[in-house]
Amino acid sequence: MKKNLLVCLICLSITAFPYSVLALPLPSTDNDYRPISNDIMVIAHRGASNYGPENTLSSYRQAIMMKADYVEIDLQMTKDGQLIAIHDETLTRTTNAKEIFPNRSPWRVKDFTLEEIRRLDAGSWFNKANPKQARVEYTKQHVPTLEEAIECVKQYRYGNAGLYIETKAPSVYPGMEEKVIEVLKKTNALDDRKLFLESFSEQSLRKLKTLEPNLKLIQLYNRNMLAGKEIDQEFKRISDYAFGVGPYKELVGRKLIKAAHQNYLLVHPWTVNSQNEMVSLLSIGVDGQFTNNTDRLVDLLEKPLITHGVANGDVTDTSVILWTRTNRDANVQFEISTDRLFKTNTIAKTSHADDKHDFIVSIEFIHLKPNTKYFYRAHVGSSKYMVTGSFRTAPAENSR
Ligand code: G3P
Ligand code: CA
Repeated sequence: MKKNLLVCLICLSITAFPYSVLALPLPSTDNDYRPISNDIMVIAHRGASNYGPENTLSSYRQAIMMKADYVEIDLQMTKDGQLIAIHDETLTRTTNAKEIFPNRSPWRVKDFTLEEIRRLDAGSWFNKANPKQARVEYTKQHVPTLEEAIECVKQYRYGNAGLYIETKAPSVYPGMEEKVIEVLKKTNALDDRKLFLESFSEQSLRKLKTLEPNLKLIQLYNRNMLAGKEIDQEFKRISDYAFGVGPYKELVGRKLIKAAHQNYLLVHPWTVNSQNEMVSLLSIGVDGQFTNNTDRLVDLLEKPLITHGVANGDVTDTSVILWTRTNRDANVQFEISTDRLFKTNTIAKTSHADDKHDFIVSIEFIHLKPNTKYFYRAHVGSSKYMVTGSFRTAPAENSR
């Protein structure tokens, strides 16, 4: 993704830090929203998992075609010590293991060999769960090995996607970290610039750090892991091994971002799927986002974007002023209508946001009906992201 000028200037001013830290923003003041940079990592959570069966080669390929910066791969280990890409510790949710091996309850990954897992269909469940997005090709998807997943991402480099690999349940799989390093070496991925390893397990990350000190490691946090902890102390503590943090999205606010950035840690929340959530997190300064909808985050980042809602003001009986703010030069289209769906009675006007006015645009609508509810919306160019609201005009001047 291209950087905007402001972020380039910020980066150039902190050349004392190693290259990999240059993309970090300067800490913002408490009252400031950070200008949204385009240097944001789009991390395809389990691949393009809203569009195809998670953690399959098909969903990895779709994520790359949608221009993900990273493809996320969840790891478990088979009975014969092979790393495979699957999220759960059991095979039941995302494969037909129950059908093929009816007597092998509870169908734990660690109780099956790779040869057995190879016989499973890892895509039909998706077709059943998502009939509108079902594709015949998904029924042919299998559970990939880590090696296959890496080769897929590396060979399918439409958009130069990187790898973002999670050691899942490492305590269940002794020796998992050594195997990860072994596969990364075998596939020539260990020294890739675009490689992150992530885990909820600090122990697993510390082990990876001991094995390969240059790895970029992301400490994940679920809803409970920060409870009762002083955030700055916690981030200072982990900064001896971590390169960034991956918190559950609802933990992320300006305080967390400030603490992370002061400790030179990137912030990659998960799992962010709506454009409204994406914009809120971007506006407070996250460095990337895990998403099942790669296309939606790419859409936001590729085009100028409304970063600060749309507000109405100066409402009279016949007029209103609408305001909004973008992150760069853009034509903003405002629409206003008495129809919630904007199918009838809609008036549209366009105004230009520019640097001279700090990207704030306002526009006045006149000749409105008194005492009437109006809906409004605004969007930039061809971006799918839209902000909306409503207001009621004042009663007519001489009415009661
Ligand atoms: O890896 C970030 C996020 O994926 C953690 O949650 O359960 O989807 O692996 P999960
Ligand atoms: Ca994950």
